[in-house]
Amino acid sequence: MSSNTLKEEILKLKEDLDVTIVAHFYQKDEVFELADFTGDSLELAKFAARDKNPNLVFCGVGFMGQSVKILAPNKRVLMPKMACCAMAKMIDVNYYDDNVNILQKSGIKKEDIMPVTYINSSAEVKAAVGKMGGYVCTSSNAKTIITKALQSGKKILFVPDRCLGQNIAIDMGLKSCVVGDGSDPKAADIICYNGFCSVHQLFDVEDIEFYREKYPDILIVTHPECKPEVCAASDFVGSTSQLIKYIKELPVEQKVAVGTEYNMVNRLREKNTYVLSSSKPECPTMNETRLEDLRDTLLLIKKGDYEGEILISEETRKYAFEALNRMFEI
Ligand code: 13P
Ligand code: SF4
Repeated sequence: MSSNTLKEEILKLKEDLDVTIVAHFYQKDEVFELADFTGDSLELAKFAARDKNPNLVFCGVGFMGQSVKILAPNKRVLMPKMACCAMAKMIDVNYYDDNVNILQKSGIKKEDIMPVTYINSSAEVKAAVGKMGGYVCTSSNAKTIITKALQSGKKILFVPDRCLGQNIAIDMGLKSCVVGDGSDPKAADIICYNGFCSVHQLFDVEDIEFYREKYPDILIVTHPECKPEVCAASDFVGSTSQLIKYIKELPVEQKVAVGTEYNMVNRLREKNTYVLSSSKPECPTMNETRLEDLRDTLLLIKKGDYEGEILISEETRKYAFEALNRMFEI
């Protein structure tokens, strides 16, 4: 079936259903175009939790749909593909506990640890953080949340993205380390879990040097999941929404090289926009959702079959909500 026919079928199905479709910026163009609302992780969570429709179809990755369910438990959140962000998969509750134990063995008491989890983590990890009085943050507010968390006078245990943790530490002039890197965690303000995004690891300082040599006036903009040396050599670092805003405000003739996911970079501007890598930085899990999957989810909703629904136990939801809500309160 052609993609136009599929799109028409989806739009027609949607007319008869109480459903809102949201999509992250990394989704395939054809899926992205059909969404009622698009945004970065924070904007999507906020919008979707307030949306009035009882059914929400989330085109993105698992932790994003879960965040909505944590915030709005009465909403039915369905994902056309239960795609799990590879970084979020790098940590579970056992690994989280192991890291807390490692810090305790190095002489930091549990009550002196303030955990902060990047929103790219499971509901269970958010709940473990919530139980310890910690916070969730996103790429757009990590600095604000860490500033607040530091007011507790405790050491920050930042999970799971070591790059985001290190980038914020550099930005704030603080000391950071990665658990297991051989350094003494007691000497660090921000102790990072050893997780990362394989897509954003693709960007290197050599790519920046290549573009700066080729186009001396080019601007380099990157996502804070990129390596610290890459962010340090960039002209602007921000969440997906912040990158879009920054780039859209540039004069059309301004060349820009962007270090984030391919689908988003590709639809940013007609000209003068480059992907900051010689290989295509596609997020495999974000790309799992196809028009067919979206259509099938709507067909199931029509039949009253809610396959692909996000379900979270009330115990997990309660503590995960505490961590997420502390973020929203700031
Ligand atoms: P944003 O919150 O910036 O949209 O980032 C989500 C993400 O997974 C980036 O890789
Ligand atoms: Fe996860 Fe990286 Fe994909 Fe973002 S780009 S959803 S962090 S794997």
